[in-house]
Amino acid sequence: MAAGRCEACGVDDAARADETTTATPAADSTDTAGRTAAGTPIVSARDLVKVYGEGDTAVRALDGVSVDFARGAFTAIMGPSGSGKSTLMHCVAGLDRPTSGSVVVDGEETSRMSERGLTRLRRTRLGFVFQAFNLIPTLTALENITLPLDIARRPVDAEHLDAVVRAVGLADRLDHKPAELSGGQQQRVACARALVARPAVVLADEPTGNLDSVSSREVLAFLRRSVEDLGQSVVMVTHDPTAASFAHRVLFLADGRVVDELHDPTAESILATLGAIGPDVTREDRSAAALDTRPDPADAEHAPHQERHAHAHHPRHAAPES
Ligand SMILES: Nc1ncnc2c1ncn2[C@@H]1O[C@H](COP(=O)(O)OP(=O)(O)OP(=O)(O)O)[C@@H](O)[C@H]1O
Ligand SMILES: [Mg+2]
Repeated sequence: MAAGRCEACGVDDAARADETTTATPAADSTDTAGRTAAGTPIVSARDLVKVYGEGDTAVRALDGVSVDFARGAFTAIMGPSGSGKSTLMHCVAGLDRPTSGSVVVDGEETSRMSERGLTRLRRTRLGFVFQAFNLIPTLTALENITLPLDIARRPVDAEHLDAVVRAVGLADRLDHKPAELSGGQQQRVACARALVARPAVVLADEPTGNLDSVSSREVLAFLRRSVEDLGQSVVMVTHDPTAASFAHRVLFLADGRVVDELHDPTAESILATLGAIGPDVTREDRSAAALDTRPDPADAEHAPHQERHAHAHHPRHAAPES
């Protein structure tokens, strides 16, 4: 992890000085919904290999992963513990360097980027949501949401902030400190914080791992809305088939490889795929799916659009990668 990175929001403060040259995405490549160059993936990984350690103790965490993540899409990554999900996210985020292979994020090849370049990429183009909410307890919800912009000394775009706050459904909670919010509300603040700087892609590693099913649904519905309504691109690692069923597409990793994928998934189709992948699926995964935590009709105003949006936003849907 780069020195100077804010543990709370994932934003680096090391490269503030050159803010003016890098903070704003190229005007000609971004429309009002935040989508760029429709059709090209927001993230492309090719032949990614990541080996930790050497000799007998070497672990091949990624073993030749080639995958595209579509723009304006919600993609989930699943797989047994140790299958390489977090390693893939870290390589995409430039928090870890692949042993070989390439990663292109929003048109920028990151594998050979300098630390400074990676810092800038994370600061300007990526949003992070972690399992632990990582909110600053002394700041209000609103102050937590605008923290990445404050750290980067970037102005707050009031209109976009308003859209994010409306999407997060916490307009009447903005003056509250994290301790005065439920777990789900806190994670929605963390999601809003990831979105407020208009990142090219939000990377979420088990964002509902610490939440009950009701709070999980709130957060997942918000992530889905950020894609449907704000044109955000989201990649989320999860162990929970119900959580993954909120995504447009689910990728399955096993032993560092992409072994399967589903489009327009349901908890049932995900569970069946996990079952086919191998015995490593934990009892927790199965019991989570057994609970009836499927998208609630109240959240699912988006669900009926799922297929339409999937095809409208995913020209690559018909031709799965990898
Ligand atoms: N820094 C590291 N040093 C050595 N080995 C590592 C390191 N990080 C991950 N690994 C190994 O790489 C493999 C993949 O780990 P990774 O964290 O990507 O798995 P994961 O799919 O995210 O698992 P989980 O679901 O438990 O979070 C594992 O065998 C892990 O032990
Ligand atoms: Mg992990």
